[in-house]
Amino acid sequence: LMIKYRSAIREVTTKLEILNDELSAFTERNPIESIQSRIKRPYSIAGKLRKQNYPLTVESISEHLNDVAGVRVVCPFIDDIYDVADMLLKQDDVRLIAQKDYIQNPKENGYRSLHLIIETPVYFSTGKELIRVEIQIRTVAMDFWASLEHQIRYKNNSPEVREIAGELKECADTIAQTDVKMQQLRLRIASKDGKK
Ligand code: GTP
Ligand code: MG
Repeated sequence: LMIKYRSAIREVTTKLEILNDELSAFTERNPIESIQSRIKRPYSIAGKLRKQNYPLTVESISEHLNDVAGVRVVCPFIDDIYDVADMLLKQDDVRLIAQKDYIQNPKENGYRSLHLIIETPVYFSTGKELIRVEIQIRTVAMDFWASLEHQIRYKNNSPEVREIAGELKECADTIAQTDVKMQQLRLRIASKDGKK
């Protein structure tokens, strides 16, 4: 099972790398800054299934969990996020299962990212299998906030943590304004160059 998810991560990562290579070769753009991936640990898989009262079987994992395979894409600008998502979803072997746009609709705590659950085929000796991958796409700035917030707060509910929630959200909003500003600056330069 883990080999299947690892293979799906490789397929998705390759797709993203190809798009980035192509765009950086033929345009001035580098829409992807970095790509990270992870496989959910067996311990966390078991925990998540148990919490929702699903059986602990291989079938149950593929049926109920969308985030065993996770890919995180970090982009320079907000526009890049939507461009990367569009280019990926246009591919005819990528099927969108679910999408959450936490950029248009940030979470209450200030978290921003575009989340896609996709399904893509992987070919094994036994034939083709459709495998789900969770893709989180965010700017460098959103990633910076999410990583630090994760360390400080995520899935921790102590009273002290609740006290700082407002300040963490302020940080997220400040960062989001900077992202918008940087996007505008890039558009200004791009239009001077005669590019879009
Ligand atoms: P999970 O059961 O936690 O996976 O949440 P979900 O199934 O409701 O999905 P959602 O799209 O909301 O979140 C999926 C993943 O996004 C999480 O596992 C985190 O990696 C990331 N994420 C979501 N919310 C936050 C947040 O508030 N802070 C940080 N740092 N990461 C978040
Ligand atoms: Mg998760």
